Parts: sequence; structure tokens; C-alpha cells
Amino acid sequence: MSEQLAISGGIPVRDIQARPWSKWPLYDATEEQALLRVLHSDQWWYVEGAEGKAFEEEFAAYQHAKHAVACVNGTAALEISLRALGVGCGDEVIVPPYTFIATASAVLTVSATPVFVDIEGDTLNIDPAKIEEAITPRTKAIIAVHIAGRPADMDGVMAVARKHNLYVIEDAAQAPAAEWRGTKVGAIGDLGTFSFQASKNLNAGEGGIIVSNNEELIEKAWSVTHVGRVRSGRWYQHEVLGGNYRMTEFQSAILRAQMARLPAQTQKRLENATYLRALLQSFEGVELPREDPRITLHANHLFTFRYKAEAFGGKTKAELIEALIAEGIPCTSGYVPLYKENVFAQAGQRKGAWCQTGRLMDYPNLNLPVCEQVCLENLWFFQQMLLGDSADMEDIANALAKIQRAWR
Ligand SMILES: Cc1ncc(COP(=O)(O)O)c(C=O)c1O
Repeated sequence: MSEQLAISGGIPVRDIQARPWSKWPLYDATEEQALLRVLHSDQWWYVEGAEGKAFEEEFAAYQHAKHAVACVNGTAALEISLRALGVGCGDEVIVPPYTFIATASAVLTVSATPVFVDIEGDTLNIDPAKIEEAITPRTKAIIAVHIAGRPADMDGVMAVARKHNLYVIEDAAQAPAAEWRGTKVGAIGDLGTFSFQASKNLNAGEGGIIVSNNEELIEKAWSVTHVGRVRSGRWYQHEVLGGNYRMTEFQSAILRAQMARLPAQTQKRLENATYLRALLQSFEGVELPREDPRITLHANHLFTFRYKAEAFGGKTKAELIEALIAEGIPCTSGYVPLYKENVFAQAGQRKGAWCQTGRLMDYPNLNLPVCEQVCLENLWFFQQMLLGDSADMEDIANALAKIQRAWR
């Protein structure tokens, strides 16, 4: 049998026309009925409808939190959370650099300064041991991100935050259902934020939510989301600066239906990810993230691994991605260090309408070595690939093995 790689005209490991990967999103008549229920109720608006409030209650309970405020997306959820905590001009917020732009851009949006702290190479999450040295008298909060659905070391993050009297926001956009020592993420810090954007494990096209066990903070988040109103106040009574960040009833109805699928989907992703880990465990040149026993449930939004080119004849990560895609295995390169994005260069030097107080930051010359190396080596498979069966996982391992044989 020919071992020719598909990029060179060989037969791919997986014929994606004949055997497509799991589609996403997944839905049936339940979602149709949920949407029609809202449509025919004539109540498409959070303020008058029942869906949004029910979703907030159900999602909070599912995530082990007492309260929740739904909003338009995960980016807004972060901005609202920072505003609710009173973070503003001149304040500093500690963030990891290996994440989606919103984690750090939200800090700029509220006129504060993001301070990047390096990640752990084997979890891709913020390194709690490096937070303390980044704290200054201006530091107000830490945003811990649960990248790929893997909870960050919340023991470490909470310990340093409590010691220095800092707020903690958990950016759990990628991690609904995930658990750290038996508690679902988002409910461990002061506020937790989620995204329901189309690629996420819980999807309404767009959407977001903030959860908390702190009633006072959640009321502040509610006010910011509802144009500065207070729940007990008059309609035209605006106590704080807010915006209109409300979710529609259609989104809430879809999310309630999708949430019913989440436990079984989380279990499926876990089973497949566990099997794929077993297949790749001793694969030379493939380095898997560390398993932390304190993670009692991984949401597996992404399956990530680090690529060691030496074991693949020195071929680059870009070449591996091209070869994998040709073999019918979709994959992507992932983030670049966030502080390299131009938006931070400008804000750090206060070019433009940024807050003119606080430290000047030389983001372009920042070098956080673990993040830099991770960005060079890391690859991602998306969550929907983990919704199939064991043969799907074997295709991934077989494609990697075939490529390695050809390149070594
Ligand atoms: C870690 C992280 N934070 C925040 C967001 C922002 O969410 P949204 O796209 O809903 O604004 C996302 C996803 O897009 C994300 O992955």
C-alpha cells in the first residue's frame, strides 16, 4: 500500500466526503419548538419574557453559582464584570497572554491597563507562581482564563488574590461544565464569564453570561447590563454608567434547549479526548498537556498538543497543519502572544483616546518565554471533532503516524 501523503497526491487517511466530522451545532425539533414558543408568545424581549430569567436561573444552578446575568456576548460579559468591580482608568488587571483578544481588550475598554503574566507550558493557563511579581499598588483584579476548557489552577490564583486583596474574574468562555475540585468554574472567583458564540460548547450563535455567588456584585453587573438601572428602581432611573447588553428571548430559549444536551456532550468529549490521549501518550514528538487531578471535569473545548519538530524531520508546524488537513484531519495553529497585537502597542503608549493615567507599557518588547514557545509549538483540534466515535480518534493518531513515517 502506498504511504504517499495526501499533500503529495496520496490517499488521505480520512475521506471527509464519505466520513464527515460531527456537524456543529447539533439540534432537533426541541430547538425548533423553543424558537417557535418565543415567536408566538410575542415576547421577544428579556424585560417582558420568561425565557431569559429562566435561563439565568438554570445556568447559575448548573454552574454552582447563586446568581447570573445574561448578556450579548462573552466580550461584553468581561467588560460588564470589570465595570461591576469598579475597575477603571489607571487600574491594572493581570491577564494571561495565551487567550482570545477579549480577555485583555476588555481591560482596555474600561480604560484600565492589562498586565500580562506568563502561562504554564503544560496547561496553557496563567502561572499562579508568576502573578505576585506582577502586582503593583494599582492592581485591582486578576482574570484567570480556562483555556481549551481546562480549569486554571484556581487554588493558586485564589491564594495570591486573597493575599493581595484582589478581585478574580474567571473567563470561562471555553469552559461551561468544567470543574475544579468539584466546583464548576465561574463560581470560584468573584465573577465568572461565559460565551455562547457559535464555536463554543454551549452555542446560541452569540451570547454571554456572568455568574457569581456575590449578590452585591451581581446586582452591579445587572445594572451595567441594563443601562444603569437598579432592579428595584423606576424605569427612568439610572444610577450607574451602563449600556444595553441584554440578550434576546430567542437566544435564551435556544440556550435552554442546548443546555439540556450539555452534560451528555461533555461526557462524550471527555471519553473521546481520553481515548485520543491514550493513543498519543507515547507518541514521539507529540506532547500532551498535564493532567491535574484537581480538575474533576474538563470541558474539552479544544484538544491541544505541542508539536516537537525534531521528531518529524524538522518540518514546521505550518507544514504539519497542511499535511493533517490534507489527510482529512482539520486542525489549527491557535493563538499568537496577545501582547504582540497592535492594539496593545498603541494603548500602552497612550496613542489615541486611551486613559492617560497609569503606567506606560511597552507591550511590543514584552517577551513571556513560555507563551512564546507554546505559540510556536501548539496545535488545536476543535470540540466538535470530539463528538464522534473512537474511529475518529484513531484517524487522528493514524494521520500523525503516517506523516511522521514519511518525514523521518
Ligand atoms: C477565552 C475567551 N474569552 C472571551 C471570549 C469572547 O466571547 P465572545 O466571542 O462571545 O465575545 C472568547 C470567545 O470568543 C474566548 O475564547
